[in-house]
Parts: sequence; C-alpha cells; structure tokens
Amino acid sequence: MTREGEAAAETVADAVLRVERLVKTYRVGFWRRKVEAVRDVSFTVRPGEIFGLLGPNGAGKTTTIKTLLGLCFPTAGSVRIFGGDPADPSVRRRLGYMPENPYVYGYLRAAEFLDLCGRLFGMRAAERAKAIPEMIERVGLGHAEDRPIGKFSKGMMQRVGLAQTLMHDPDLLILDEPMSGLDPVGRKEIRDLLLAQKKAGKTLVFTSHILSDVEMLCDRAVILRRGEVVAEGALSALLGSAEGRTEIELAGASAELRGRLAEREGSRAVHEGSASLFVDVAPEAVDATLRQALDGGARVVAVRPERRSLESFFTGEETPAGRGGDAPKAGASKVRGATR
Ligand SMILES: Nc1ncnc2c1ncn2[C@@H]1O[C@H](COP(=O)(O)OP(=O)(O)OP(=O)(O)O)[C@@H](O)[C@H]1O
Ligand SMILES: [Mg+2]
Repeated sequence: MTREGEAAAETVADAVLRVERLVKTYRVGFWRRKVEAVRDVSFTVRPGEIFGLLGPNGAGKTTTIKTLLGLCFPTAGSVRIFGGDPADPSVRRRLGYMPENPYVYGYLRAAEFLDLCGRLFGMRAAERAKAIPEMIERVGLGHAEDRPIGKFSKGMMQRVGLAQTLMHDPDLLILDEPMSGLDPVGRKEIRDLLLAQKKAGKTLVFTSHILSDVEMLCDRAVILRRGEVVAEGALSALLGSAEGRTEIELAGASAELRGRLAEREGSRAVHEGSASLFVDVAPEAVDATLRQALDGGARVVAVRPERRSLESFFTGEETPAGRGGDAPKAGASKVRGATR
C-alpha cells in the first residue's frame, strides 16, 4: 500500500461515524408514492470534531440522523459508528441523541425526567444522583427545579433535551437543531456548552440552517439539498469567496479619487452607498488600492473578503458550472452540482 493509501485507510478506521451511499425512500399515501428523503449521501466524521449537517427545511437532515441512530432503516447504504453497527448496544451506550422535537413527560420535573433517562441508559443510582444536579446546573435550569417540564418554555425544553443527551457522558453527540427556539443569550450558552464538550474530547454532529451558529461551531460540514450532498468540507473553505474578491469600503472619497479607482486594473465595480464608496478588487490589488485611497484623502471604513452564503447553497445558486476553475483543493472541500 502506498503512503497515501495507508493514511486514507487510517482515517477511515479512525472515523467516529461513517455514512456510505445512504438512501432513504419513504412510501406515502394510498398509491405508495415515493419520497426520496435521502439520496446517495456519504460523509465521514473524525474524532473530536464538530460536524455540521446543514440544509434548508426538508433537505433530509433529520432523516439522515434517524438512520444514523437506527431509528429508521436505510433503503440502501451503510452507517458505521465507532466501527460498529448503530443498533449494537455497546455502540448505543456511547451515543447521546437530542431529537428535533424532544418528547418528554410533561408532568415530570427536570430531575425526575433525567433520572428516568439515566435509568434507561443503565446508570446506577449513585451515578444518577451525582450527574443530575450537575446537568441541571450546566444547562442553566437550576431556577426551575420545582416546575414540571410541561410548563417549560421552548428554550427551557431545549435545555432539558441537552441535559438528557449529556447525562451518560457519551463520546458522540448527535443533536438535531440544538439551538432552535433559543434567544441570543441561550444560543451562546448552548454554544459554549457544546464547545466545552469538544474540548473534553467528544465528537459532535449537529444539524442547523442558521449560519452564525454553524460558523462559530463547525469544523467541517456537509450541505444537503433535496436529499443530496451539494457541498462538503471545512467550513472556512465552503464559505470562502468563489472568486476571491475583496470589497473595500471608503468614506470621504473625492470625485477625482473615485474616477481613478474605477480605472484601476483589477477593480471590478465602484459603486456608491449612502455615505460610502465600495470598490471591489482582486486580492492581489487590495494593498495598492488601499494606499491609493489613503493617499487620495479617503478613509478606510472596512475591508471585507467576499464570501459565499449558506443560503446560496440552500437555494441552488452554488453549482460547479458557476464556479469556473476555482474548485477548492482536494481534501479541503467539494462543491457538487445537483445531479438531477
Ligand atoms: N416518515 C416520513 N414519511 C414520509 N416522508 C417523510 C417522512 N419523514 C420525512 N419525510 C420527508 O422527507 C424529506 C426530508 O425530511 P427531513 O425531516 O429529513 O428534513 P430536514 O432536513 O430535517 O428538514 P427541517 O429543517 O425542516 O427539519 C421531506 O420531504 C419530508 O417530507
Ligand atoms: Mg429536521
């Protein structure tokens, strides 16, 4: 085996989660019409990373997660977790799952619910007694200990869901929209909690369609659209500029400077906002343009590398045809066109 081959084999063997050519087709209605929820999806999650499963509503995120957990049976393809079958009890013990819509018994208090979950995971009484108050504290529900879960707000429910996921100290956390329904402070708290899990050496997979959460958390991601992978790789590479352009925002530019900037080689568009002038240049022209602008008496307000938005992947604007020859390097990220 070549060195590269060995490295690849090692990566695969080390993978915490490996999804290969996963297909899930539902049959609905009297005529058993086909709904292709997941179509030929493959990805690998490495130890210790935060991996995002992204996509708009109906992309197939929840369906993918359910097949990962053995909660629904794949039509085709395979899922390996820690090298084993997701249905294997020894594999399951190492998993923590937070569903999109957690079903909890509304009349139980958080501590009682967590006790029930702990029992289901086979935790001993002493372990549960130690873990429950810790969990309640960690997810910030200490103030609501005497209230039944049925009276919790959406954000508080998310926190119970998260506490239940972390209870048995799993090695792989699978979270379906963990941040949905939370206010900005709640989002930050949950984000910090998830980052602390990563620091503790855990691997995390979560679904989302919210760019800021994804950006702050994910190391790598796959983007799904209508059941297919449209892009995958390191988030920085996925959201990097398609053409590497940079936008320079200037204030106080004279008409003369404007004219000179417009004529600059490499500057594509000069347009005016209410108080600012925006110049769009290639990366190699940034330094010279800034110098020229400052020498010409303008102030630099901002320098922004152009970025792709997640939405552009969701809506299908991002296809290889539109990207010319600037595909990211192998191993960094891949953007695939819809194959239908
Ligand atoms: N049990 C089911 N029976 C039939 N169709 C289903 C079933 N579950 C999901 N689907 C369909 O599969 C597709 C993917 O649904 P899924 O719930 O996986 O999307 P999602 O990416 O999680 O969306 P959201 O962001 O809204 O949670 C949808 O078209 C949905 O209607
Ligand atoms: Mg979903």
